[in-house]
Amino acid sequence: MNILIINGSPRINGTTSTIANAFGTAATSNGNEVRTHILNDMRDIRGCQSCAKCFEAGHCVLKDDFTKVLEDHHWADVIVWATPVYLDDMSGILKLFADRMLFSNVKPEFYADFENPVYGRFAPGKKFVLIQTQAAPAGTYKALFDKCTIIMRDTGIHDCHWLECTQLWIQPEAIPGHDQRMIDYEQLAQDLATDICGQK
Ligand SMILES: Cc1cc2nc3c(=O)[nH]c(=O)nc-3n(C[C@H](O)[C@H](O)[C@H](O)COP(=O)(O)O)c2cc1C
Repeated sequence: MNILIINGSPRINGTTSTIANAFGTAATSNGNEVRTHILNDMRDIRGCQSCAKCFEAGHCVLKDDFTKVLEDHHWADVIVWATPVYLDDMSGILKLFADRMLFSNVKPEFYADFENPVYGRFAPGKKFVLIQTQAAPAGTYKALFDKCTIIMRDTGIHDCHWLECTQLWIQPEAIPGHDQRMIDYEQLAQDLATDICGQK
């Protein structure tokens, strides 16, 4: 399978990256092809310009560093978004990308009749995983996963999974049990990758 990992954390050795890498490493060792994009490394990026040209073109017409990331969402069988919670939400840079991804992958007819929605441009059968890291305890930001399932549903993805990683912090030594929790979440990420992406 083709596995796409979008890393929305600025910290390449932080909690989000470590857990996302555990998912990717397990998927690779199970014989899948994995591509990872670190959004924070990208310099030429813009938010959605609300030009609506994607409705005609069928893809986002802006050309910047997000273009390849958007294309890879069509290549992927499994799409993983990994993000720290920032102010109750996905990180700002992932939100910038999410607007572009959502708008360019819904069909114009979707907005015509919300009672009978026509879902998006993605080929059927794709899966989505949200890896979410946060300081707060379990369940605090279930709304973030719910929002992502709606984004994915509207683009045509109906099989969504959530790895909620809680009580993690940017200064691990400040929180008792942090290191053990990271070990546990890396294991959960590996198990999820095997479960969702298959085993050799
Ligand atoms: C700007 C900023 C905002 C944050 N907002 C929240 C928040 O609203 N709720 C929460 O539980 N944690 C919040 N955190 C903590 C991070 O989500 C958490 O420590 C996460 O594990 C950091 O991921 P990283 O190691 O990939 O940087 C915030 C951290 C930063 C830097």
